[in-house]
Amino acid sequence: MSESTNVLVRPAVEIAPFQDGQHLHGAVEALLKLRRAEGLYPPQRDVEATPTAFTGWLLSEDALGRWVAIVDGQVAGHISITAPHPYLTEALAGMGQVSPAPHGICEVSKFFVDPTVQGKGTGAQLFEAAFRFARREGMQPALAVVSTSLAARRFYDRHGMIETGSFQGIHGENFVFVDGVSDPSWGLEPAVGVLTA
Ligand SMILES: CC(C)(COP(=O)(O)OP(=O)(O)OC[C@H]1O[C@@H](n2cnc3c(N)ncnc32)[C@H](O)[C@@H]1OP(=O)(O)O)[C@@H](O)C(=O)NCCC(=O)NCCS
Repeated sequence: MSESTNVLVRPAVEIAPFQDGQHLHGAVEALLKLRRAEGLYPPQRDVEATPTAFTGWLLSEDALGRWVAIVDGQVAGHISITAPHPYLTEALAGMGQVSPAPHGICEVSKFFVDPTVQGKGTGAQLFEAAFRFARREGMQPALAVVSTSLAARRFYDRHGMIETGSFQGIHGENFVFVDGVSDPSWGLEPAVGVLTA
């Protein structure tokens, strides 16, 4: 009798702190592929699809932390943590959300994976690196995602983030997600469905 076993083959992924000289070109190439593949990200309204414009867009914020995923020697994804944009701060305030984290909310930003590598756990590894950093710094990650980014919304839901509400932004309806896992050092009991969870 023969037995068949499903084996998941994961590519070797290295998560590395972003360095302009080493990673910028590859990150912009991945962005160009992403825009060509699905047309949604980065938002067309914000930036045209040229290497120069994508470079400016990628580096447009002062990141508190920034990482890339390297797959088979190529930059295949990127994530950064920044101070929250005013739209996110305002949305959370409007929802009555107050962060229990000692240093408050930080924003997950510029999170993407090369479309030829998606669905293999690369995004999850980038996300973990960014979250480890945020928690270590006593910050609670949050983000806003446009309603049309279905893969991203599903991803956040599966990765312990809680959808706390939505607001109308320049790109249409945005859903706000907040890290739902309380750090024990914040001295709060986990509770599902609220910001302090
Ligand atoms: C959101 C995004 C970064 C996720 O990246 P990713 O590398 O595909 O993420 P993962 O592979 O870790 O997870 C994606 C899915 O693959 C599945 N997966 C993970 N590892 C897998 C494996 N070894 N084999 C098969 N499937 C796997 C996960 O279960 C997940 O499924 P789910 O979404 O139904 O939960 C990516 O979809 C993306 O770049 N989207 C466009 C840009 C964007 O919208 N960014 C967010 C803006 S707010």
